[in-house]
Amino acid sequence: MEQITKSEKETRELVGKILDISPFKEHATVFVLEGELGSGKTTFVKGLEEILKIRIKSPTFNIINKYKIDFKGFKYLYHIDFYRVSDVLGLEFEEILKSKENLIFIEWGSNVLKAIPRYAKWLYFEYKGEDKRRIYEKNNNY
Ligand SMILES: Nc1ncnc2c1ncn2[C@@H]1O[C@H](COP(=O)(O)OP(=O)(O)OP(=O)(O)O)[C@@H](O)[C@H]1O
Ligand SMILES: [Mg+2]
Repeated sequence: MEQITKSEKETRELVGKILDISPFKEHATVFVLEGELGSGKTTFVKGLEEILKIRIKSPTFNIINKYKIDFKGFKYLYHIDFYRVSDVLGLEFEEILKSKENLIFIEWGSNVLKAIPRYAKWLYFEYKGEDKRRIYEKNNNY
């Protein structure tokens, strides 16, 4: 996936494009969203509001927000922001990764790179002007 979006609305709608997924058998499904402040990571996740019929809050203060969902076999959505975090110790992050019922979106995953599983899909967000963003999928070979 690679896309230029020209508005907040277009970025919100883009999240639907990556949801052609079904749960893994052995573990959670994880998307890591990388990009500078204001590049649109939270906006992208907020696009799930229409699809999942939930209200998404900013995860900046809680670090991990959890939502009950019923979507393609997933029972919980986790929206995580590791911006102020450098170690996942004590956050029960590794527990969350174990359940195939969990659909997980992580902002600033590179802050805790060692804790991010190899099976995670990485999406990159680039600021291209006031209302313009480039959003693309690329493997992170860490
Ligand atoms: N095409 C676009 N896509 C996404 N957001 C856009 C776009 N154009 C303008 N914006 C604005 O850019 C801002 C994106 O903020 P957002 O909180 O989504 O960024 P973020 O990547 O989550 O930042 P942070 O690292 O601080 O969490 C919003 O104010 C949004 O309205
Ligand atoms: Mg954000």
